[in-house]
Amino acid sequence: MVIYLSGEVAPPPNLDDLTPKQIVAELDKHVVGQRAAKRAVAIALRNRVRRQKLPLDLAQDVIPKNIIMIGSTGVGKTEIARRLARLSGSPFLKVEASKFTEVGYVGRDVESIVRDLVEIAIDLVREEKIDEVADKAEFNAEERILDILLPPKPDDSSASENNNDQFQRTREKLRQQLRDGKLNSRLIELEVKERGLPSGIEIITPQGIEEMDINIKDMIPGLFSGGRSTKRKMPVEEALEYLISEEEQNLIDMDSVSRVALERVENSGIVFLDEIDKIAGREGAHGPEVSREGVQRDLLPIIEGTTVNTKYGMVRTDHVLFIAAGAFHVAKPSDLIPELQGRFPIRVNLDPLTKDDFKRILTEPKNSLIRQYTALLQTEGICLEFTEDAIETIADFAYSVNKSTENIGARRLHTVMEKLLDEISFEGSDLPEKKQVINQDYVRKMLSSIVENEDLSRYIL
Ligand SMILES: Nc1ncnc2c1ncn2[C@@H]1O[C@H](COP(=O)(O)OP(=O)(O)OP(=O)(O)O)[C@@H](O)[C@H]1O
Ligand SMILES: [Mg+2]
Repeated sequence: MVIYLSGEVAPPPNLDDLTPKQIVAELDKHVVGQRAAKRAVAIALRNRVRRQKLPLDLAQDVIPKNIIMIGSTGVGKTEIARRLARLSGSPFLKVEASKFTEVGYVGRDVESIVRDLVEIAIDLVREEKIDEVADKAEFNAEERILDILLPPKPDDSSASENNNDQFQRTREKLRQQLRDGKLNSRLIELEVKERGLPSGIEIITPQGIEEMDINIKDMIPGLFSGGRSTKRKMPVEEALEYLISEEEQNLIDMDSVSRVALERVENSGIVFLDEIDKIAGREGAHGPEVSREGVQRDLLPIIEGTTVNTKYGMVRTDHVLFIAAGAFHVAKPSDLIPELQGRFPIRVNLDPLTKDDFKRILTEPKNSLIRQYTALLQTEGICLEFTEDAIETIADFAYSVNKSTENIGARRLHTVMEKLLDEISFEGSDLPEKKQVINQDYVRKMLSSIVENEDLSRYIL
């Protein structure tokens, strides 16, 4: 149980309800191995839930234990984050730290991280609220459609009771037909609000939408609010959809959405800072080093905890969890400025992937590569089957190409699989034989010559 201070929205069952073991088990469904990293992430998340149960004065002093995941390319760092994001009911943002040093981005306000996170939270909470009002919205929309199909009679006191009953019965009959989808294609006329900009107006700003919101929107009220409405003919099915979303917008209270969203960011926001090693480097006298150190300095306050002003209000970042990741091939975590190192007390190493890991990655995850390709070809009636020894050989080949050329981790499996199934993918539904068994011989036939020739594999695999 999480205690939400405002108590406005009961959050859906989410990451915060899971114990560390359960989080690891969820991650296990998608990511092979990397136990230490999964554990660290799970503990950090759980500690936040624990913190929320503490008395306020103690809770305020418990700072999140930010994590650095260290591991070479393609071993699952981003994959762990991606899966967490899917799992989580928490606002979750992934950013590349390196993007803040790119030309054109230098000096880009790192506070945008927090603003983006707030936008994500707003969407999240809005979706939840929409779920809550979905039934009501659907009912209201249905009523409005019925009003159009069978306009209510003007209040006529002379109308007999009988007539009124008759009217109600007809309306209920119509309702049933509507629910059964029998009226779907009937055309009705509907008043629709125009969305977005009136045609012919286009706004291009260098700063992007965030800044524009403040300026132009305020200057020309009504331009963006879509104040105008027009009549449009559309089938009932489409009209219903339109009215449901309009009703949903009417029923949810955006003020409380932003309040809850801000609270959600402050208490359970997660920022995944990818490619953190790309900003490592300090005391460099010139060139990129300077800007890298600058970015680290810029990041410090939001990681340590500061207040950021957003469109929806102020956000404190003290309890936002930061998970950083990087290959750290050249730079080491110790190349980060000391203040930043101190903000990431937990370090986890991701293991290099073994041949056996490759085998498991091919088969075990819920949407493993083998399952993906099988499903893709299934759409054209091709039944793909891999024998045990074929999978063994694929893993073997991927592993040795990684060794002989460059180690790109599990990404190698993608290139190898693509090459292996090149012919079958090309022929697709034209294949006369609908059942295709991929055995060891087939793998060897397709790949041996490439794998054995180092130069060739450099290009092809
Ligand atoms: N341990 C693993 N289990 C399952 N799949 C994995 C694993 N490691 C990598 N993969 C797969 O390999 C691909 C690349 O992995 P990922 O994006 O996580 O790499 P990364 O560690 O973030 O590398 P980089 O440092 O280049 O960003 C993904 O498609 C992912 O599904
Ligand atoms: Mg990555």
